[in-house]
Amino acid sequence: MAPPPAHDGQFDGRTVLVTGATRGIGRAVALGFALAGAQVIATGRTQGALESLDDDIRSAGRKRPTLVPLDLAEGDGLDRLGAAIHQRWGQLDVMVAAAGILGLTTPIAHLDPKVWEQVINVNLTANYRLVRAMDPLLRAAPNARAIFLTSGVAAHPRAFWGAYAASKAGLEALAAVYADETEHTNVRVAVVNPGPMRTRMRAQAFPGEDPLTLPEPVEIVPLILDLARTDQSPPSGVISFPAWREQRADQGPGQEKGAAVAGDALSSSEGPKA
Ligand SMILES: NC(=O)c1ccc[n+]([C@@H]2O[C@H](COP(=O)([O-])OP(=O)(O)OC[C@H]3O[C@@H](n4cnc5c(N)ncnc54)[C@H](OP(=O)(O)O)[C@@H]3O)[C@@H](O)[C@H]2O)c1
Repeated sequence: MAPPPAHDGQFDGRTVLVTGATRGIGRAVALGFALAGAQVIATGRTQGALESLDDDIRSAGRKRPTLVPLDLAEGDGLDRLGAAIHQRWGQLDVMVAAAGILGLTTPIAHLDPKVWEQVINVNLTANYRLVRAMDPLLRAAPNARAIFLTSGVAAHPRAFWGAYAASKAGLEALAAVYADETEHTNVRVAVVNPGPMRTRMRAQAFPGEDPLTLPEPVEIVPLILDLARTDQSPPSGVISFPAWREQRADQGPGQEKGAAVAGDALSSSEGPKA
């Protein structure tokens, strides 16, 4: 592992829950928050992958994460997690809902009902259960963030992506409703479209694609960390990582920090969607 970046303590004392922390974007985000000083609560089903995250965080000399093996398809586990967080910390500062599944890319009429149900369960219902379980904890924090990961196919559906597109469109609606409900509280909601990214999900969707042409999950970490900053509110609407990245590249080195969450990094097209 490369040496960790200088620890600026930005997230010292803040508790951050990340779903889907066993691989891909969620893992990179969990590691990023831990390196920035946060107490990370990492969830996913794969115990060994959670332990590997723990190893990486510990070997960087950061606070040990709390590992929570959990199948999001079983919503009661989230209720239990909420109760445990309440007991231990009394609040939750940041929640990043990164877990997701693609299901199968196939015509709707051919889609197995079990696959439909699984995709809707993990990508949509689990996020409703997450909000339900974590809302009191987020409201108890002085300046909380709820960050959800969506996809370009939510706004631009296309053939064969039925369950996934419907689940992400539902998730965007859910997040928008939650943002409205928390408008006058200390909770702010952000929705991020990562665009194509070098992960297992993307490889499943586009097996012929050269993964080396895609950004690595670590590249989205600064955006997610910026959205969790307490000195600014995230923009409403869907924040496009490809647009944010392009804007950052245009600004060149030295301009990067202040322009991190510019409003015009909102949703735009980003090539083949996932
Ligand atoms: N990669 C892209 O190009 C892309 C583009 C647009 C949007 N996104 C979105 O970004 C998010 C992260 O995607 P990714 O590409 O990083 O995916 P990934 O590499 O496939 O990782 C998915 C994560 O979700 C977890 N997960 C899946 N089913 C679960 C379940 N039933 N219970 C608990 N955890 C579960 C997995 O953990 P376990 O298997 O260990 O449970 C894993 O940690 C997703 O919401 C995805 O829709 C990705």
